[in-house]
Amino acid sequence: MGKTRLSNSILIQNAQIVAEHELLLGNLYCRNGKIEWFGPGSSFPEKYSLDSSAEVIDADGLIVFPGGIDPHVHFNLDIGGGVFSADSFLSGSEAALAGGTTTVFDFVTPARGESLLRALDQRIDETAGSLVHCYLHMSITEWNNQTAAEMAICVNERGIRSFKVYMAYKDKIGLGDGDIMKVMETAAKLDAIVMVHCEMGDAIEELKRILSSESKRDVRYHPVSRPSGLEAAAVKRVLELSEKSGCRVYIVHLSSKSGLSAVSDARHKHIYVETCPHYLIFDESRYLLPDYDKASSYVMSPPLRSTVDREALWQGIEDHRIDVIATDHCPFKKEDRQEYRDDFFYKIPNGAGGVEERIGLVYTHGVRTGRVDMRRFVELIATNPAKIFGLFPNKGVIRRGADADLVIWDPAYSRKISAATHRQASDINIYEGFETVGKVKTVIIGNRIIRI
Ligand code: URP
Ligand code: ZN
Repeated sequence: MGKTRLSNSILIQNAQIVAEHELLLGNLYCRNGKIEWFGPGSSFPEKYSLDSSAEVIDADGLIVFPGGIDPHVHFNLDIGGGVFSADSFLSGSEAALAGGTTTVFDFVTPARGESLLRALDQRIDETAGSLVHCYLHMSITEWNNQTAAEMAICVNERGIRSFKVYMAYKDKIGLGDGDIMKVMETAAKLDAIVMVHCEMGDAIEELKRILSSESKRDVRYHPVSRPSGLEAAAVKRVLELSEKSGCRVYIVHLSSKSGLSAVSDARHKHIYVETCPHYLIFDESRYLLPDYDKASSYVMSPPLRSTVDREALWQGIEDHRIDVIATDHCPFKKEDRQEYRDDFFYKIPNGAGGVEERIGLVYTHGVRTGRVDMRRFVELIATNPAKIFGLFPNKGVIRRGADADLVIWDPAYSRKISAATHRQASDINIYEGFETVGKVKTVIIGNRIIRI
């Protein structure tokens, strides 16, 4: 990370500004951590006299857009057996900042039997090292006679606005349909949203059992154990539960054409859909890579899909059926996967990185290819997450009075992604060698000015 300067008075001049209702070439002024004013041309209201402590940034040829909001990261995720996802809140947030993300949402994942509120307190302590704004979603990993009351306290007293349930991983954190319905009914009464990991867990367990009995251990069987039809079936189930309960639902990391079609069939205004860059860039051939370290780095759930699925997701982005591109950032170190080299694929820790690369990848593969324009780009990476998770209009938008969380982007610059130079803590990067167009030059987060 470059130098950080503090200033309560920041003038950005000559920038292409992606504002809430317009694109303009002009100046933008921030005071006391808020966007105070912006306007076209070289105008600047006289009433804002700049003193010597003001920071003036010449952004000629550069683009200014709202700081990215990634509503789905897993920093310091405890997966048991003493293994944690690679990034701490410090290293993960450094990576986020370097990639132009100024706000993340992570998760509280209480152990079964643990109080939600106790787990929340502990997780809040862990977020203290974050360099970016950090909010938390609450995962509901079991339903017991305390859950409804604790959910109410989470919302009414602790600022939680979103709960997460898993339809997979039923042995540890996943829930059956009856319990998901209870979570949704409770959340609906609290006007909270429920995020859902949509994969039919029981069927996946059965497929894993069959593959096991056939000694199919290799990473290539990971997608075989989690076919796209099981995502689509889960999406359909969730939509029914949402309709019955009246609960707003956010489908995390949608990966497949059939999953997207299931949403499209029943889409109504309370359903939001997220996908992730890895589903937009890669396909399942990555699991056939001969190098175990590389092939296993793509083990995430849901798995990578076919090129047809990938194109369908881009189509969903273009026609607004997908609302958010988040990352599900959860990389592990090579050593954490090493011990499973000759073991069954389903024991490999699940998850991949992306918080540092997301904005560059969406800019390169979305904006530069003409699939999305700059306004839609900003919606996908910042405005929509802010709206869905209750941060709008303070965050996710350039408008007067909004928080001064901004990215100054150099579109003329290209970079090559590499684990040798990235900021995140993992020693492998699933985008190794990928070129991205554009680069974060400066991030403003409140009164902090960070040169990247
Ligand atoms: O494979 C994944 N998605 N890992 C991250 C943890 C989770 O399930 O969201
Ligand atoms: Zn996740």
